[in-house]
Amino acid sequence: MTRDSDEPPTADGGSTADRSTDDEVTLDPWGSATVDDYRKLFDEFGIEEIDDVLGEIPDPHYLMRRGVIFGHRDYRPVAQAMHEGDPFAVLSGFMPTGDPHVGHKLVFDEIIWHQRQGGDAYALIADLEAHSARGLSWDEIDEHARDYVLSLLALGFDPDEGTLYRQSTNREVQDLAFELGIEANFSELQSIYGFDGETDVSHMQSVVTQMADICYPQLDGPKPTVIPVGPDQDPHVRLARDLASRVRFFGVTEAYASFETDDEERSVLETAYEHRADYADDPHDPRCEEAARWIHDGESVPDRFDNDVLVSTSRKLENAGMEPLRPRVRILDRNATEAAFDALIRAVDGEKRVYEAHVDAFDLTRDDAEELAREVEIDHGGYGFVPPSSIYHRFMTGLTGGKMSSSIPASHVSLLDDPEDGYEKVKAATTGGRETAEEQRELGGRADECPVYELYAYLLAADDDEFAKKVYDECVGGERLCGDCKEQAANLLYEFLEDHQEKRAEAAELLDDLDLDLDSDRR
Ligand code: TRP
Ligand code: SF4
Repeated sequence: MTRDSDEPPTADGGSTADRSTDDEVTLDPWGSATVDDYRKLFDEFGIEEIDDVLGEIPDPHYLMRRGVIFGHRDYRPVAQAMHEGDPFAVLSGFMPTGDPHVGHKLVFDEIIWHQRQGGDAYALIADLEAHSARGLSWDEIDEHARDYVLSLLALGFDPDEGTLYRQSTNREVQDLAFELGIEANFSELQSIYGFDGETDVSHMQSVVTQMADICYPQLDGPKPTVIPVGPDQDPHVRLARDLASRVRFFGVTEAYASFETDDEERSVLETAYEHRADYADDPHDPRCEEAARWIHDGESVPDRFDNDVLVSTSRKLENAGMEPLRPRVRILDRNATEAAFDALIRAVDGEKRVYEAHVDAFDLTRDDAEELAREVEIDHGGYGFVPPSSIYHRFMTGLTGGKMSSSIPASHVSLLDDPEDGYEKVKAATTGGRETAEEQRELGGRADECPVYELYAYLLAADDDEFAKKVYDECVGGERLCGDCKEQAANLLYEFLEDHQEKRAEAAELLDDLDLDLDSDRR
């Protein structure tokens, strides 16, 4: 998520992940929150483009429509739950390090939108992280936490339906953090976050706490959960997805014979099975050794496979001899209790074969098997977590050009700014305009490089796509000049801030009724 992005790495060595160099992108949750090339996030980190799922999202948010929310990880299950009225959740967290600003508003809006779409909504104050990774005092944290919560409420978060909490006082989160921490070791944190021997233990604890935050909505039952954040938080999302599956009782895969394979070998087996008519005496009953011979002969084996993989697969097939080559769903015992594994075996319908640490089911689809495994796990006290999903928004450009940063007041608009100051900041902003009005009329403005246009698209135009498009078209068409454009934006921002601050004042009256302690009694 967006936040103070420019603090130097903390003295505890928490931000030692490799710094970006020209041709390398790194995602560092405690480093500089800028991304020079969003495309690299797709190629190098496997973040997917939001446009690919847009059609599956009922009535997508304007930030999605405008590509401000540009990417996602595994958002489909969330979109599908939304579509079908099934349970789903949204959760994000805020480090209370300063004033909430228009970058935080993006995330507030994302949480609120998912809540209105029917999701269980969670917002948390990452006070342990702020204290350990940023060294904020508890008094500072309390004050900022209050400000974040007021803006969230003012923007429309429904506290009766949703959940607000702070990390430090949520006992269930602490307990879950402890359990998840069992699945992660130091080497892993080192390679993900660049931690080293100097990193303090509390900083590491704040990482497992975040892992618990991310899984928390599923403590009362597994459900698709989306975590809206900035791409700097992606390392956390990936680790959380890993940990969520590592604590599962069972794993489900596909298999073709009794022996174990890796994914590449499985893909060879799948192809061999498809070609069974080419080599089997009885195509209804292909045998492993026949498939091994087919691989050896090699003629109709697609050449996309690695030779080593072919060799290892055919060796396994040979060893299996006359065993039938037959597709099945395999349910592996990962962390199950004996009672749970026994119950699973009993619950598998149809033909099955039981082994030491897995059961093969011949009449189940993979989805059936997943569902069954989850049910048995839950019946036996497991979590049954669905891997959490995420959506990523672009970082806003600062009004002075460069990045938006809390330590350069003129670069960002705080939600607490006096409307008059907000107005002045916009009037003083850098633009994508040309040197002279004449040139602007001739060549058009550069809306794509203009922080003022960004303000329209991310905030001021709100749900009005036509208005956002009008500003853009007029700008690049040379009909719009920067002076007037800024005046209009400044007025809109003035109105927004005035209105927002009125709503904050109203929300202040709700604060006492919230189950959230904003006066921590800690040292
Ligand atoms: N690390 C986040 C930040 O830097 C805050 C955070 C804590 C968070 N727990 C979370 C974000 C869970 C998303 C989900 O601001
Ligand atoms: Fe930016 Fe508006 Fe100038 Fe275009 S006209 S460059 S959008 S300030």
